[in-house]
Amino acid sequence: MSSTSISGNENIPHILVLGMGGTIAGVAANPESKPMEYAAGQLEIGSLLTHIQSAIPQGVHLVSKQLANMNSRNLTESLLTLLGTSVREALENTMVRGVVITHGTDTIEETGVFLQLTCGKFAENLGKRVILTGAMLPANAPGADGPSNLLDAVRWACLPIDNCPGGIYAVMDGRVCMAMDLAKRHATALNAPIQSAPSGSVGLVNPSWLSGAKAVQAAWNEDLPIPEEGEWPWVEILTSHAGARAKTIDLWLTSNVRGLVLAGSGMGGFHDEWLAPLKQAITLGIALVRTTRTGAGRTLLNIPEKDPPGCMASGTLTAPRARIALQLALNAADLAQSEGKPLTWQDFFARIANLPEIR
Ligand code: SIN
Repeated sequence: MSSTSISGNENIPHILVLGMGGTIAGVAANPESKPMEYAAGQLEIGSLLTHIQSAIPQGVHLVSKQLANMNSRNLTESLLTLLGTSVREALENTMVRGVVITHGTDTIEETGVFLQLTCGKFAENLGKRVILTGAMLPANAPGADGPSNLLDAVRWACLPIDNCPGGIYAVMDGRVCMAMDLAKRHATALNAPIQSAPSGSVGLVNPSWLSGAKAVQAAWNEDLPIPEEGEWPWVEILTSHAGARAKTIDLWLTSNVRGLVLAGSGMGGFHDEWLAPLKQAITLGIALVRTTRTGAGRTLLNIPEKDPPGCMASGTLTAPRARIALQLALNAADLAQSEGKPLTWQDFFARIANLPEIR
């Protein structure tokens, strides 16, 4: 579902708040006794803002726009295209000082890396911040975390904070991280999407975190194109495990899949049964990226074993992030080649996987 209801005066300087849905907009039928039995994406963004209106810093005007109101497990590539295009338009608009996006936490990590890779340089160059936020408790649950997260996000979008540059960030549970470092690592904890990300406190930004964020921005020198609706390359994630079968790979060889992200065990190794069919996948032009199913740590080329030629390692990208990165890299290579530039998906993917790590 998508709609574009707008509220607020767009002709004065403002923070644009884009609503995508999620638990932050969720409602439980019996919030006191069963807060976790709820439906995500029920309340409009305008109504969420009404609850924090009295705490918004003086002189800050908010404009809200509902792009979707959904459970983010159903996020589609078309919606990512709509969101990316909306963020770019907002950044270009001289009336927009910053952007906040309310989003479901289940796939917030995909959206975080997507926005970093398609809008990160643009935001930095314009000195504007784009802030993703969400919640782990529905809006009507006792102790709901949505209002404080949303308020922190609005403040982060508009206040001068410790020389923090323009860019794509995420705020949750009193912490801030670069949006590309989001990864939901717990089913229910209030800091689930941010708990393993290098982050700083929203109150007082840690200088070493800030210098790490600046190093990432310095290394990211050009945004990738946003795929047009319907033009996203098909990429799947396959997990290696005890008892993995060659057949699992064989099944993809006759499909139109453009790429496979292999979530391997440990350092990203995959079952020996997969080796022969994966070599065949490469000869068929299917792009391969190897990552670790552990959810943390770096995956490096030719470790633990020599990679089949053309296969890339994901660096610090988790499987969901590596999938988005591979889609954007394939799309960028398609566009470059259509303009006669001899660039491959590996050229684009390497730029992403080699970004500095914030510690
Ligand atoms: C969702 O991702 O939309 C539901 C879960 C959440 O927001 O925490």
